[in-house]
Amino acid sequence: MAGTPKKPRLKIRPATQSDLARILPLIEAYYAFDSIDFDTLVIRPALSRLLREKSLGRCWVVDAGGSLAGYTILTYNYDLEFGGTEGIITEFFIAPNYRREGLGASMIAAVRDFCRSARIGTIELQVSRGNRRARAFYQALGFAASDRIVMSTDVNSEKYSRFPLPCKGRGSGG
Ligand SMILES: CC(C)(COP(=O)(O)OP(=O)(O)OC[C@H]1O[C@@H](n2cnc3c(N)ncnc32)[C@H](O)[C@@H]1OP(=O)(O)O)[C@@H](O)C(=O)NCCC(=O)NCCS
Repeated sequence: MAGTPKKPRLKIRPATQSDLARILPLIEAYYAFDSIDFDTLVIRPALSRLLREKSLGRCWVVDAGGSLAGYTILTYNYDLEFGGTEGIITEFFIAPNYRREGLGASMIAAVRDFCRSARIGTIELQVSRGNRRARAFYQALGFAASDRIVMSTDVNSEKYSRFPLPCKGRGSGG
C-alpha cells in the first residue's frame, strides 16, 4: 500500500557555485512574485560572481535533498551610522510548498549568526508595502519598519546627467 510521500530532509547551508543552476529558477519565481524583471543574461553572471567573491556577500539555500526549496542573499553596505558595515538582505524566498514550516525563520537565524560572527551589527532590507505576509514574517523575527522611504535613480538616465553648475551671483559684481 502506498503511504504518504516522505518529505525530504531539509537543511539550510551556504550556497556554492554548483548550486547556481538550481538557484536561478528560485530567483525567477521570486522576481515574478515581487514584479521584478528577470533576465538570465544579467542575473546568471551576477549570481556567479557573488558565489565566487565572498567580499560581495553570501547566499544560503534550503537544500531539500537534491532540489532547493528556498534561498536568501545578504550583501553589504558601509554606513557610518551603523559603525561601518551593515548587512542587507536583498532577496528572500521560500518555495510555496515549504512555507509556514519555520524555514524562513531558520534562514534568518543563519543570517544573524553569520552577521554576528562577522561583527555586523545591523541587518536592513526592503519589503513592498503591500507584501503583508513578508511584513508579518519580518516583524515576528524582530525587524521594525523605519519612517524613511527608499529613493533610487538610474545613473545612465540622460535627463539628469548634465545638470548645469549653479551660476547664481556670477558676474553680478556685487
Ligand atoms: C515571507 C516568507 C519568506 C516566509 O517564509 P516561511 O518559511 O513561510 O516563514 P516561517 O514559517 O519561518 O514563519 C515564521 C513566522 O513568520 C510569521 N509568518 C510567516 N508567514 C506568515 C503569513 N503568511 N502570515 C502571517 N505571519 C506569517 C509567523 O509569525 C511565523 O511563525 P508561526 O508560523 O509560528 O506563526 C515566504 O512566505 C515567502 O518566501 N514569500 C514570498 C517571497 C517574499 O515575500 N519574500 C520577501 C521579500 S522582501
